[in-house]
Amino acid sequence: MNPVKIAVLVSGGGTNLQALIDAEKSGILTSGKISLVLSNKEGAYALERAKNANIETAVVTKAACGSQEAFEAKIKETLTAHGIEIIILAGFMSILSEEFTSAYPKKILNVHPSLIPSFCGKGFYGLHVHEAALAYGVKVTGATVHFVNEIPDGGEIILQKAVEIKEGDTPEILQRRVMEEAEWKLLPAAAEKVCADILKNQ
Ligand code: GAR
Repeated sequence: MNPVKIAVLVSGGGTNLQALIDAEKSGILTSGKISLVLSNKEGAYALERAKNANIETAVVTKAACGSQEAFEAKIKETLTAHGIEIIILAGFMSILSEEFTSAYPKKILNVHPSLIPSFCGKGFYGLHVHEAALAYGVKVTGATVHFVNEIPDGGEIILQKAVEIKEGDTPEILQRRVMEEAEWKLLPAAAEKVCADILKNQ
């Protein structure tokens, strides 16, 4: 059976994309194949990571498209042209509309750097999530991989892992620990799980 065609949507450094690429190389991700990396930011380092792994890339920016509708239509068109079956948001810093998400029910995954439902939703992204966790004073945080629906960070949880907060943590130190201990393991595992389920039901 052919592996499920995956598009990874990115905006920045792409360490989660790298974890997926490495997982494919090491045989952790076998039921899916990363077939496209799409960035909404020109020059995102994630695009270099894709090129180094010989994965096709595309850049679609809201500025060039002119509106959210045109931006999402262009993304859809690009995904269709590549025969994409599932979409993984890996540090994709743009909220997709209900019109977009409802076109791909249970076919869009997102990695979020907290234990949802804590520190999630609008405004909680990247380092801000860890700043909020430290400001609140929680002793445990973590990461979540979930399906994407019309509610930001509100879709069904696929996998979740806790990470300890330590004395003296800065947002940057905590972000790194959450990535190393949780995100980079959870995201490939969730991708494999979802792709394997799709193949099983074909
Ligand atoms: C990751 O920590 C990811 O969980 C987070 O942004 C970072 C991207 O890093 N995503 C969100 O906050 C989404 N709400 P990366 O580009 O190195 O993978």
